Amino acid sequence: MSIFPFPDPIINCNFENVYAPSDDTYLILDYFKNKIDNSYFDDIKINKIKNLLDLGTGTGIIAIFFQLIKKEIINFDPKIYASDISENAIKCVKSNMKANEIYEEINLLCSDLFNSFPDNLKNSFNIIIFNPPYLPSSRLIKKDQKKDIDYSWNGGEKGHEVLINFLEKANYFLNLQEKHYIYCITSSRTDIVETNRLITNLGYKNQIVKKTHLFFEDIYLNRLTYNRL
Ligand SMILES: C[S@@+](CC[C@H](N)C(=O)[O-])C[C@H]1O[C@@H](n2cnc3c(N)ncnc32)[C@H](O)[C@@H]1O
Repeated sequence: MSIFPFPDPIINCNFENVYAPSDDTYLILDYFKNKIDNSYFDDIKINKIKNLLDLGTGTGIIAIFFQLIKKEIINFDPKIYASDISENAIKCVKSNMKANEIYEEINLLCSDLFNSFPDNLKNSFNIIIFNPPYLPSSRLIKKDQKKDIDYSWNGGEKGHEVLINFLEKANYFLNLQEKHYIYCITSSRTDIVETNRLITNLGYKNQIVKKTHLFFEDIYLNRLTYNRL
């Protein structure tokens, strides 16, 4: 049970080709509603969270949720970053920030994974959240042929390619001197055993912390730490 009246951000998803919050989004938000209090963010001391990234932010709902929590919890004061490959998503986040009376506070980046991140963000994030595109695509779409909306769901031929590409770089952006977590979604529509093997081979320890069953798939919230120092 959550102890706060956690905010539900006001979200307008009427921007063309921007992913409307769905079961996977709410799996993440519901997890945090039960895992944040005055003292702890999951099992990390709340005042230790300095930089938080919502990668593949879409409408911005997750980043805005955390920004609104900052108003509720005094000791929770991280800089919040939100990024997306889609320019339209970034426009959508800006509009949703205004709707929630947040103006400058969230740092926005339009970037393919970490490609356009400045170097000063390396080694900085305690928390990274990525609800990636995770569905396998039988048709191979080259990067420059992808439409904006494909980026929301098309995880590559096996479904885990975008997630694995992300994890190959994510460790450089984690603050490995402090306790850190990556939270990401996976789906039973991909080969979960193979996905977990790839995650482990990259040096991450993975724990499934929440899951939900939909009509045709299970979706999992994974919590990763980087082990290879
Ligand atoms: C499943 S949606 C999740 C959106 C939002 N975080 C949520 O939970 O509602 C995936 C998001 O990742 C973005 N995305 C896909 N590939 C990306 C990449 N290579 N770099 C950055 N963002 C990417 C998409 O544009 C989309 O907004």
